[in-house]
Amino acid sequence: RTGARVERLPLARFTTVGVGGEAEVWFVENHAQLAEAMEAPYRVLGGGSNLVVADAGVEERVVRLTGAFAQKDLEPDPALSDDAVVVTGWVGGGVPLPGLLRTLQKLGLSNLEGTVGVPAQVGGAVWMNAGTRYGEMFDGLHTLEIVTPGGTRVVTPDDLAWGYRNSGIPRNHVVTRVRLKLVRRAPEDVQAKMDAADAARKGQPKMRTPGCAFKNPGGVSAGKLIDEAGLKGTRVGNAMIAPEHANFIVNLGGATSADVLALLDLIRARVGVDLELEYELWP
Ligand code: FAD
Ligand code: EPU
Repeated sequence: RTGARVERLPLARFTTVGVGGEAEVWFVENHAQLAEAMEAPYRVLGGGSNLVVADAGVEERVVRLTGAFAQKDLEPDPALSDDAVVVTGWVGGGVPLPGLLRTLQKLGLSNLEGTVGVPAQVGGAVWMNAGTRYGEMFDGLHTLEIVTPGGTRVVTPDDLAWGYRNSGIPRNHVVTRVRLKLVRRAPEDVQAKMDAADAARKGQPKMRTPGCAFKNPGGVSAGKLIDEAGLKGTRVGNAMIAPEHANFIVNLGGATSADVLALLDLIRARVGVDLELEYELWP
């Protein structure tokens, strides 16, 4: 039909923590292939950096953006750009964010530096409004293309109820591509901002992980709360609460999804404050 590549694969291969069973993965390169993938129940996979997938995998199709959806056109749109502000062409939802930031730094384009170190794809980072206290994805968005089984919409951030770690975009509405709104700065200045944001990550573990487990409740660091509960270094199977930072669960090698989930339950039972999960559990 549309020629989308479809393969049954272990999702552990696509997640930064390296756990997760099999699913039917649809590698979609264009809108026609995406539309076909959406004809049955589906989930959208980005960089897999915020996902804990069950050991049994998931039943739905898993959509992975590639091809045209993984390309970036950073040429300034002449109608909307001037000496100070640049609105780019389309940047695909499947573009890896770290590489995009490196390119923007070289071009002297600023606004997204606060997201340095987030190992996401653009679409996933937008969907979550990934960021740090140095900045977030919505600092640099001009327009978003969102595809659902009902059709395609182009919206601006003003059309969305976005906030901390939240774009306001419903689940399974696919961010296929975005246009960025950036300001021109000397490449050294862009680098300096990236370095400052990156320095805040010094204390984060280097092992495989899905990032921070819980959102910071009311601006308090969830990591500090878990640390104060004395849980650093706690192990279940081959998963462990990182000794470096208590809001990170790491895979020591060969961890299962069940190991990670058991640690999440243990943290919730032991920390006195209601913690909201930051990562997503599949199914
Ligand atoms: P995935 O993990 O693949 O998916 C997460 C969710 O996004 C799912 O619901 C998925 O369906 C949805 N999604 C993915 N792609 C799309 C798309 N194209 N359209 C619509 N929905 C989509 N996060 C921060 O905010 N700040 C940090 O500082 C940070 N640091 C991290 C450090 C490490 C080492 C790791 C592993 C993670 C970190 N994270 C951080 C978490 C994670 O990188 C972000 O939550 C990121 O937004 C996830 O994007 P992803 O592309 O990996 O999405
Ligand atoms: N702290 C502890 N013990 C710990 C962890 C932290 O005492 O085990 C203390 C630190 O010493 C510091 C404070 O808590 O005084 C805040 O810690 P940190 O600077 O690491 O920030 P955070 O709030 O824990 C946030 C984001 C991270 C982001 C970092 C750096 C959330 C949930 N976390 O962490 O995002 O990388 O700032 O900018 O918003 C993620 O979202 O997945 C993520 C990793």
